[in-house]
Amino acid sequence: MKLLEVTELTKSFGGVHAVSNISFSVSAGEIVAVIGPNGAGKTTLFNLMTGVYPPTHGHIYFKGTDITSLPTHKVAALGIARTFQNLQIFNNMTVLENVMVGRHIRSRTGLLGAVFPLWPVQSEESKIVESSLEKLALTGLADKAMEPAGSLPYGQQKMLEIARAIALEPELLLLDEPAAGLNSSETRELVDIIYTLRDQGITIILVEHDMETVMEITDRLVVLNFGNKLAEGTPYEIQNNQEVITAYLGEEGF
Ligand SMILES: Nc1ncnc2c1ncn2[C@@H]1O[C@H](COP(=O)(O)OP(=O)(O)O)[C@@H](O)[C@H]1O
Ligand SMILES: [Mg+2]
Repeated sequence: MKLLEVTELTKSFGGVHAVSNISFSVSAGEIVAVIGPNGAGKTTLFNLMTGVYPPTHGHIYFKGTDITSLPTHKVAALGIARTFQNLQIFNNMTVLENVMVGRHIRSRTGLLGAVFPLWPVQSEESKIVESSLEKLALTGLADKAMEPAGSLPYGQQKMLEIARAIALEPELLLLDEPAAGLNSSETRELVDIIYTLRDQGITIILVEHDMETVMEITDRLVVLNFGNKLAEGTPYEIQNNQEVITAYLGEEGF
């Protein structure tokens, strides 16, 4: 069974067909990239897969369950986490608190705390702190835990978004342009983090414009153009696909 299966997915905003009849699937353990020019529908695809809005047509299956049109919190609880193209960091909260927000959905503190006001809450809370610190260590932010998130440089804020997303303990992680705005050493760190996550069993779909990185780390690519799926294949196949070269890469090539 596929981890994720998308069939005939379509999203129209008024007259704009942001995503048009797209089908593809992802197996557990894969690293898959969705690429395409600006406005191709990549972020809309992520928004559909995470329940930000329902599709106009088509279905999304996660581990065989139809998750089409489920609200974001239910999608998250089922095991799909994401980062955003435009950072969604709480600047005035500490780095640790930002990660704990992500972990909270997995916690039963609210319910347990209400039923047993004194005892279990503390241990649940300390477990959340412990696991959040683990995620910060994995993303290279362990020594920043108590700093206000807004004081981090941009590259570290992007790592923080990844830490918060993986605090959900997802099976599928969607990264929307994780390398955008990163310098080359930060991009290397990002690649290492992505490999570590994959080795931990997390399946990854990323939207990314940095072709060198994409071609290096992905097993497979889905290419979008004007909302349509233009091609799908291995890095080698995509790099040698004339339609992709013409539509997306222009004269520059890969
Ligand atoms: N909420 C929205 N309302 C109206 N149009 C939208 C909305 N979101 C995206 N679009 C349009 O859908 C198309 C695809 O956008 P997007 O998915 O953000 O592309 P990409 O991430 O590939 O750059 C664009 O033409 C964009 O203007
Ligand atoms: Mg986008």
